[in-house]
Amino acid sequence: MGQRVLVTGGAGYIGSHTCLELLNAGHEVVVLDNLANSSEESLRRVQELCGKSITFAQLDLLDAAGVDALFATHQLDAVMHFAGLKAVGESNDIPLHYYSNNITGTLHLLEAMKRHGVWNFIFSSSATVYGVPESVPITEEFALSATNPYGRTKLMIEEILRDVAKAEPQLRAVLLRYFNPIGAHESGRIGEDPQGLPNNLMPFVMQVAVGLRDKVAVFGDDYDTRDGTGVRDYIHVTDLALGHLAALDALPQIHGCVAYNLGTGTGYSVLEMVRAAAQASERTIPHEVVARRAGDVGEVFADASRAARDLGWRATRDLQKMCEDSWRWQSKNPSGYKTQ
Ligand code: NAD
Ligand code: WQD
Repeated sequence: MGQRVLVTGGAGYIGSHTCLELLNAGHEVVVLDNLANSSEESLRRVQELCGKSITFAQLDLLDAAGVDALFATHQLDAVMHFAGLKAVGESNDIPLHYYSNNITGTLHLLEAMKRHGVWNFIFSSSATVYGVPESVPITEEFALSATNPYGRTKLMIEEILRDVAKAEPQLRAVLLRYFNPIGAHESGRIGEDPQGLPNNLMPFVMQVAVGLRDKVAVFGDDYDTRDGTGVRDYIHVTDLALGHLAALDALPQIHGCVAYNLGTGTGYSVLEMVRAAAQASERTIPHEVVARRAGDVGEVFADASRAARDLGWRATRDLQKMCEDSWRWQSKNPSGYKTQ
């Protein structure tokens, strides 16, 4: 049965793709976003793609009264919480802003949920909560730690939710630990739209392919991996969005707070990603090996079997599909949503 879902951060990259899949599956969507790192154009295009409408509140989670009023206006069944700041490097420079935005924002959301009796919660966590993993593949049982303020906000929010679950037995909370989301909806109408210099590999690679930047800097080729470059578990954003729908369906069976890895279980190196992107775009992608980036680890990939078992979810889109869809979005919208 269709549910009314509040999607915080719904105008952003992963949130917008999830809104589309929610609407396609017959759910109603209320988006809360302050547009700090997004534009309303993403939501306009989501509505155009599915022919359904979204209720949009341009609101900051730091505005506790505004958040409470939104809950008073809409009878909500569940909350998907994507809103947050996510740039690792920036979080080292302005940690107070990250703690305030991500932690205080989440507290306001949880307080409003409690006041209005909404107990179904799906949280955008991250593989960053595993810090420097001892081995791969990573299961949900691995030790948790953080290596930067951004990661610490994710870990703290997880801890807050575990505490709230102990105090409030009605809470059903799913922590989705994403590995490396890439790709775009296959229409090429919505995708990732980084502001300024991209922090992540694939948006950078795609901007080189389309001619916006000269070359990719490969951060180190002396890791203990098959070609010496960093290995990550890249997952198609549509698979990730569908993971949220699977979690929503599974919530009635969830008790307390449960974490799930959302990854494919397969790792690819930086050089393999550059090659796959070159093939999909039919462009040459110049690249140059530079020093390691501080804080990076060699190899990260998921054991996603818990999500398969409990949520009946697994990623189905392969690397070629991820790169083809990234390229369709990048080539049709070279300047992101500013391209009309
Ligand atoms: P994004 O920046 O595209 O989306 C986040 C959205 O939240 C933006 O639209 C932004 O405007 C909004 N927002 C931020 N602070 C807000 C506030 N105080 N009030 C209201 N809205 C606010 O990022 P994304 O890649 O779509 O990531 C979504 C979530 O997933 C984030 O919580 C992120 O930390 C998490 N995550 C992302 C990745 C990744 O690599 N993209 C990996 C793991 C986890
Ligand atoms: C991938 C690989 C780099 C850029 C980050 C966050 C993590 C999560 C996902 C939110 C690494 C290499 C990168 C470049 C490169 N986000 N690289 N040249 O570091 O795995 O994860 O995003 O939760 O918390 O830390 O992703 O895309 O930055 O890097 O060689 O210009 O590409 O060294 O091996 P990462 P990434």
